[in-house]
Amino acid sequence: MFQVNENYLKLPGSYLFSTVGRKQREYQAAHPDKKVIRLSIGDVTQPLAPVILDALHKAVDEMGQAETFRGYAPDLGYEFLRNAIAENDYKARGCDISADEIFVSDGAKCDCSNIQEIFSLNNRIAVCDPVYPVYVDSNVMAGRAGDYNPMTETWGDVIYMPCTEANGFSPEFPKETPDIIYLCFPNNPTGATISKDRLQEWVDYANKNGAVILYDAAYEAYISEENIPHSIYECEGARTCAIEMRSFSKNAGFTGVRLGFTVIPKELKAGDVSLHSLWARRHGTKYNGAPYIIQRAGEAVYSPEGKKQLKEQVAYYMNNAHYIYNNLKDAGFQVSGGVNAPYIWLKTPKGMTSWEFFDYLLENANVVGTPGSGFGPSGEHFFRLTAFGSYESTVEAIERIRKMPL
Ligand SMILES: Cc1ncc(COP(=O)(O)O)c(C=O)c1O
Repeated sequence: MFQVNENYLKLPGSYLFSTVGRKQREYQAAHPDKKVIRLSIGDVTQPLAPVILDALHKAVDEMGQAETFRGYAPDLGYEFLRNAIAENDYKARGCDISADEIFVSDGAKCDCSNIQEIFSLNNRIAVCDPVYPVYVDSNVMAGRAGDYNPMTETWGDVIYMPCTEANGFSPEFPKETPDIIYLCFPNNPTGATISKDRLQEWVDYANKNGAVILYDAAYEAYISEENIPHSIYECEGARTCAIEMRSFSKNAGFTGVRLGFTVIPKELKAGDVSLHSLWARRHGTKYNGAPYIIQRAGEAVYSPEGKKQLKEQVAYYMNNAHYIYNNLKDAGFQVSGGVNAPYIWLKTPKGMTSWEFFDYLLENANVVGTPGSGFGPSGEHFFRLTAFGSYESTVEAIERIRKMPL
């Protein structure tokens, strides 16, 4: 009789966003006359920029001609895209990353969840709390997280690094020494960033302790302040301790198009074993490449016109972020994030739990957000609002929140 991977059975309850979605649907079914506004899921809403559409159309036409038709993509991605990434995301920022250290994929979620496969099950992982749930859940599925404790809402073998008001939502070095450290800046869900000096301390810590940092920079395009690193490779020594994951979802609106990449420097080794080689082997065996058409669209992101159009798109969402941040602050809410990230991290008023505030907001303002506790126990009493809606719906949602009796 076949058996299932029992690690999957350890995963508790339904996924955070399924619960949020279910509650919203139930409310809407009971109140069909109400217009519910969603500032919950981190999905973009603006259409693809014209430069992306042109690249897509052109690539589709190429696929229709025998002379320009392409079959399987090269394992690690087309040279034209990897060169554009190396040049624009790395060399232009003074980072020593070459095109052959870049692995093109269909998004950061797959890479963030799959990368753990190349590490031993004996490794201890450390994650921020609150955290993007994919890092923990993928380790649970692999059998690296131990058992779930429903009382503390934590996994026995995972090291948690609380990100709280007290530390400015930036993790401190944990008491136990981890082997694998997941960091994400600008952060989902808190919208917090890390200074270059602090990230350098993390790189030094990892090199000293023989740990690897898995750095998720999916929201890099939203950085507006100076001295906030866009890449971990801006830090000295990162080539021997860090893997970086990036996405085209939030900078170019590719959530439905699908494109991302992972960087593994050649110097990154466990003893004599190169992680670059392991990931290349894994990529070659289990993945057949992002589509040619999409990789051409990715290349267009780096064209002068692409940069201009996408800067405007990011600015559109950040205008929403500033609107949410300023107006809620003005109304007496305690808010953070929203400066270098499209997320606003709100302290729930009157000591409400995150889910109490979720229900209160849905009932009284017909606005849906995401309860902070869904991202980890330290997210309790916090709430995430996203800036990815339209400007009009964002303004309406915030006006309703401001009018809500509290
Ligand atoms: C921190 C973080 N990493 C990765 C992703 C997923 O990116 P992609 O759409 O490229 O899979 C998200 C999506 O919301 C995210 O918030």
